[in-house]
Amino acid sequence: MALTGVKGFNDILPDESSRWHYIEQTARKVFELNGFGEIRVPIMEKTELFCRSIGDATDIVEKEMYTFTDKGENSVTLRPEGTAGVMRAFIEHKLYAQDPIAKLYYMGPMFRYERPQKGRYRQFHQIGAEITGVHDPLADAQVLNMLTIFFREIGLTEPTLQINSLGCPECRPSYRATLQAFLNERSSQLCDDCNRRLVTNPLRALDCKIPGCSAATVGAPSVLEHLCNSCNDHFSSVRRYLDLSATPYSINSRMVRGLDYYTRTTFEMVTGLLGSQSAVAAGGRYDGLISQLGGPAIPGIGFAMGLERIALLLGAKEFTSQPDLFIATIGAGERDVAFRLMDGLLKVGVRVEMDYEGKSLKSQMRRADKLKSLYSVVIGGNEAVSGRASFKRMADGLQTDVALTVTDIHALVRKSEQ
Ligand code: HAM
Repeated sequence: MALTGVKGFNDILPDESSRWHYIEQTARKVFELNGFGEIRVPIMEKTELFCRSIGDATDIVEKEMYTFTDKGENSVTLRPEGTAGVMRAFIEHKLYAQDPIAKLYYMGPMFRYERPQKGRYRQFHQIGAEITGVHDPLADAQVLNMLTIFFREIGLTEPTLQINSLGCPECRPSYRATLQAFLNERSSQLCDDCNRRLVTNPLRALDCKIPGCSAATVGAPSVLEHLCNSCNDHFSSVRRYLDLSATPYSINSRMVRGLDYYTRTTFEMVTGLLGSQSAVAAGGRYDGLISQLGGPAIPGIGFAMGLERIALLLGAKEFTSQPDLFIATIGAGERDVAFRLMDGLLKVGVRVEMDYEGKSLKSQMRRADKLKSLYSVVIGGNEAVSGRASFKRMADGLQTDVALTVTDIHALVRKSEQ
């Protein structure tokens, strides 16, 4: 029996990867315009890094990590997200030494042992961006605007921005206690997981999809009503900046993130088109993370988008690049002429395909159609001798007489692109 891949780990085939390139290229363009530079960190880190950053009482650390002991008896983990590794590298290489403000982006595979379904995989890909060193809400707004611009550039209007504030170490404990008291009174309605996390992570109950928990948390105290003055001012300023830049958003005070490092602003880009996997991108501020990992007290904020989810939303559009020209040949002798022409055209950036196998003219033309080539040309004995041929524009059959030279064909293709 032929071997198959591992469950939840997908192959990205050429048709699909052209859509991925489009997403990645658009992200690079938008991020670099905003002054972000790419950082590439390993896909595996010491397990402790994720326990200390994401948090021991989160689903990710409790149940979803690909953790194993390597041959040197070290516990290592395939990264379930990007922020922890990027901040580890930021500290390890003292990127803050010259300037605490670093704008970093990354893309690559992440691994979580979740139950696979549409939009949720065990190996998935994130494109993320992080800014360090800025306490000011201006950084929050820049990150949110960049995310909004990215989705606009890519042609998706559907995911909408929701924001919340989770407070800080000053005000969150009292909110947690208030919420805990509220949930304790309703513990009989909560699921086992929420009951178990009543002490360690009570906020998760607000996000639990189990009907009993949703019902029990109706009317739960809102985090936004328990913010200290300074968190409240921060959140108001973020909103003011978003209004100044006409960035659309809504407030979702029940938004809870599945990672413990967040402080203050958190956000998600959500869609109704992917069933229960509604978050296409998500992030927030993590002012305590860098010092928690042994670095200086430098704040940070960022987000990560799920590449597979964006690709699903783009679904209907086509991104495969079609050839500019298909060269069909009649006899074996003309194949040398065609090959040299193809080689010359490829060298100047014209996308060319030709017949590889000496097929009939009819079947060559069928292939030109199938590849959706912009032009086709048939080279027979006459064309090879005269050095001129009739170029057919495939969309409408218009024929143009062109010299069989790289320069003239290049010019014809470029002209039709304008
Ligand atoms: P996250 O919410 O865990 O945040 O993941 C961010 C995005 O990754 C999600 O919104 C979703 O689009 C995608 N994603 C997560 N899990 C899966 C999965 N199993 N299959 C497919 N896509 C998935 C973080 O990871 C934070 N590091 C974001 C961040 C950056 N916060 C600050 N900076």
